[in-house]
Amino acid sequence: METPDIHRTAVADPVVEAEGLAMAFPGNTLFRDVSFQVGRGEVFVILGGSGCGKSTLLKLLIGLHQPTAGQIRILGEDLLGAGGRTRRDLLSRFGVMWQSGALFGSMTLLENVMLPLEEHTRLPPAAREEVARLKLGLVGLSEAADRLPAEISGGMAKRAGIARAMALDPPLLFLDEPSAGLDPITSAGLDRLIQDLARDLGTTFVVVTHELQSILAIGDRCIMLDKQAQGMIAEGDPRELRDHGTHPTVRAFFRREAA
Ligand SMILES: Nc1ncnc2c1ncn2[C@@H]1O[C@H](COP(=O)(O)OP(=O)(O)O)[C@@H](O)[C@H]1O
Ligand SMILES: [Mg+2]
Repeated sequence: METPDIHRTAVADPVVEAEGLAMAFPGNTLFRDVSFQVGRGEVFVILGGSGCGKSTLLKLLIGLHQPTAGQIRILGEDLLGAGGRTRRDLLSRFGVMWQSGALFGSMTLLENVMLPLEEHTRLPPAAREEVARLKLGLVGLSEAADRLPAEISGGMAKRAGIARAMALDPPLLFLDEPSAGLDPITSAGLDRLIQDLARDLGTTFVVVTHELQSILAIGDRCIMLDKQAQGMIAEGDPRELRDHGTHPTVRAFFRREAA
């Protein structure tokens, strides 16, 4: 369905390209015809009500699920067509952080961040530790390197999750609801971190969130999925959508109006 809130932008240097994506689970069509591009260095937000398929879309983009239709290119490579070694290489070129941070409880933060370096590089242990400490420093956790996940706050666990996702210097990071369960101040700190990393390192972020404050603060562009429409109902600059959105659900979300 076309809606006046879809403002497609030509992206010069796309690192994520989704074309005509459709996804259904048995008896449950989530979305059809989802197309968008994410440019290098952008913070791109996927939003929409609970159960509309945001996490599922993220899983398609990182190769965890196969779409029922459509094409995906990540960092210029055809994700769905890639197999074997090519696919493994591609999957190691971006970072992912799930809701909880998903740290290993029996390992210190430093060991958690060193893990991807052990799996994917041939760096000697001293170099792995140096890189991991650098990443923990980037997210403000230098002092907490030797603590266990149970000994830190929720906000620190999210930041440690980001540090681990960044271990291999990925140009692209996917975050699923990074601020879920955080208090507003910690959440604002995480937003600042994402903006700093995007600006200073040129890292591209694809972030699923439904925190309006956060979307307006960090989102360069966004798409909005809708369960009822079974697809995208908006695309563009979140501030533009807030001021000029016309679809009732888009207005309801951005202006906190009743739909
Ligand atoms: N692996 C799965 N098998 C079957 N249904 C699923 C699976 N994963 C998600 N779903 C269903 O897809 C819908 C969207 O889920 P999800 O992508 O997690 O939504 P969101 O992240 O937007 O809240 C839900 O109805 C959920 O029950
Ligand atoms: Mg989700």
